[in-house]
This record gives sequence, structure tokens and C-alpha cells, in this order.
Amino acid sequence: MKTINVGLLGLGTVGSGMLKVFQEHVELLDRRVGAKLRIKKIAVRRLPPRIPVDARLLTTDALEVVRDPQIDIVVELIGGTTVARTLCLEAIANGKHLVTANKALLGEHGLEIYRAAAEKRVDLGFEASVCGAIPIIRSVKDGLVANRILSFMGIVNGTTNYILTKMTETGQAFASVLAEAQAQGYAEADPTLDVGGIDAAHKLQILASLAYGGYIRFSDIYIEGIQNVEATDIEFARELGYRIKLLAIAKEDHGELEVRVHPTMIPETHLLASVGGVYNAVHIRGDSCGSLMFSGRGAGQLPTASSVVADIVEIAHNIVYHRPARAGLLPTSAAGGEITLRPMERIASRYYLRIMAVDKPGVLSKVSGVLGENSISIASMIQKGRDEAAAVPIVMLTHAAVEGDMRRSLQRINTLDVVAQETTCIRVEGVED
Ligand code: HSE
Repeated sequence: MKTINVGLLGLGTVGSGMLKVFQEHVELLDRRVGAKLRIKKIAVRRLPPRIPVDARLLTTDALEVVRDPQIDIVVELIGGTTVARTLCLEAIANGKHLVTANKALLGEHGLEIYRAAAEKRVDLGFEASVCGAIPIIRSVKDGLVANRILSFMGIVNGTTNYILTKMTETGQAFASVLAEAQAQGYAEADPTLDVGGIDAAHKLQILASLAYGGYIRFSDIYIEGIQNVEATDIEFARELGYRIKLLAIAKEDHGELEVRVHPTMIPETHLLASVGGVYNAVHIRGDSCGSLMFSGRGAGQLPTASSVVADIVEIAHNIVYHRPARAGLLPTSAAGGEITLRPMERIASRYYLRIMAVDKPGVLSKVSGVLGENSISIASMIQKGRDEAAAVPIVMLTHAAVEGDMRRSLQRINTLDVVAQETTCIRVEGVED
């Protein structure tokens, strides 16, 4: 039986999980691959490592792993976009097949990595970079390859889903739920990437580039995090029959693609609305397959290791059966050719507005007048409370409107003398107009 050697870069949470899966399933994996899969070397930042490992496998020199002529597959689990980038490119340059869970690296430097892999004709596996255990990359690349993807909407960040779910269940404010999540280890000490929507945008960049067959620049993705979502909006959303989720959205319409990450109101009956806590889910519509939803654990040691090992097995299988690398399926050409991105100003959406206004005659006509002048039609409205001295919330849902029109309206509404503070605006998806 042929032996296929794997070199591992990084022995943190996912790296340890990967070793665990390898140790527990060694016979099963060998049988499935048709070869002996063995870990040949592991690069760690410092010795001793956090878990007990055969000392003969360890090195603190990562280059030793990526340049080892006996290693067939390099697995990068270091994270970050600096050292990891250099090592991944070096591994590819040395003809190694590469597996990575690094969403930031692919989200920001993917084109360079995809092109290098295609040029060197090596396989590149990155299932673990998006939605942990969910085989979403494989589904988009293989299972749904016959479809034109009309849209996908995903809850692709577990931390923000946990925070929004907790805010919905308890009525607590964002800051207090975040502090609790950090204390319990659900949120990072520096939560900026998660709560700011950056992590979700990295995953959207990877998925949308694959689904639409052209490399989308990370800087072209519109990003809004959940920091400004208030408990009161979650409550109003619930009263109106909606939930607020941080969604990564890609939609094709008349030859243009929208790519955006922002807090979104979806009907409570939508499949995504029931995905709570740290769970992830992606809802896809394809022209032949119809609607599909994938859900599961988007992070964690073993769920992420499950996807890393799946990539290793697939590549090992390709090696055993002398199948050429499938780099042709990677988005190696930049968007602009096949894909035209729609600027945010021109997207259409329904909107939720919470206007804090003084409770005086004529306020509604001023607000609705501005919306009407900008071709925005109101679908429903609630006003809560009565207080002539202070501002009260006026909540509106609009019919589909163009973002640019909404932005112009908000600028005008916020300067009305009857409006006391900046208006909250949340896009609404998943409703037929
Ligand atoms: N920080 C990510 C999340 C981890 O919260 O989903 C998985 O990519």
C-alpha cells in the first residue's frame, strides 16, 4: 500500500482536532483512501506543544515542512495573512498539495493562492475555511455545478449568531451579551472581526467567487456589523414576525451580482430564522435544484477538523488514482470579466425603519412625504407610546426600494426638526414583494 505523507503547520485547536481524527480513524481513512495516510511532520511555534505528540514529528521550522521532499500534502492551520501566506505559497512552489482552513488568507489573497495552485497543478482544499463542518464548498463546487446560482444567504459566523440569538431570547443589549460571550469563551477577546462582519465577508468572498466563477475582491463587499443592532429593534422585529440575523448575501440579477454582509430582518418562518446559537447555515437557490439549506456547526475543534480531513482524503485519493489536480474549478480570473458587481447604491431591498420623532401632528406626513418624494412606498407602520415631551419610535416597513433612494431619504429624514436621533435602518430579505 502506498504511503501518503502529510505535513501540518500549526497545532492549535483545529490542528489538535485533526490529529485526534487521524488517530481515531486511521484504519477507516486508509481503507477509504486506498493508501496509508501518515502525518510526517508538524511545525509548531514553540516547544513543547500543548498536547502530547511524538517528539520525532515536531519542528519549530515551518519551512522544513513545506520543503520536505517526502511530504505530499501540506495542511496550513496557522491562521492570519502574513506567515501563513508565505508558507502556503512556498508549499505550492514546492509542488505540495495544500489544505487550509484560513478564510482570511483566501478572502484577502485568494487570487494569488488559486493562481499559484493552478500554475503548479496542485490540489487546493479549503472546505474548513467556510462554515466548519458543513460541506458547503464541495456542494457549490461539485454537487451544484450544473446550476446557475440565483442567490445564497448565509449565517456564516457563529459568534454573531450566538449574540443575536441571546439578545432575541433575553432582551439584553448587545454589549452585555458580548461581555458574557467573551467570559464563556464563545467570543474572541478581540471580537472585531466577528462582530464587525469581516469574518462573514471573508467567507462570502470565498463562496461567492466559487459560486459565480470569478474572483471577487474583498474590498468590493459591502460590510456592516452587528454593533449597532439594538434590543428594541429585535423586539420590534419579533412583533412584526421577523428575526434579525447577520447574513452574508450574494444575489445575481440581470447579469449583475450583489455581495453584502449586514444585519438583516428575515421572516420568522424562513428556514434561516430557526438557526440559532453558534450554528451556521447557508440557504441557496439554484435554477435547477431549487432551494436548499445546509446547516450545522460552523466552528469548533472536531467539526472543523472533519472538513480538513475530508480535504486531505480527497487529495490523497486523487494522488492514489493519478487524477490531475482540479484547479480548473478555482476562481483564477478576477471579477470584471464574467461578473459585474452591482454597486450598493443600486441594490433593491425592503427596509425596516425606526424613526425617533416627537409626537406632534404632522410628523408622519413629513416623514412619509420624504419617502414618497424618493419613490419609497410604506408597507406597514406602528407607533408605540405617547409622549409629547420626548421622542417616540415610529416603525415602518417599506416595499422594495432602491438603496440610493433610501440613503437620500434617511439623510433628509434625519435633519427634520421633529426627528430626535439618527434613524435605524435594517434591510429585509426573504419576503416576496
Ligand atoms: N469566528 C468564527 C465564528 C469561527 O464565530 O464563526 C469560525 O470561522
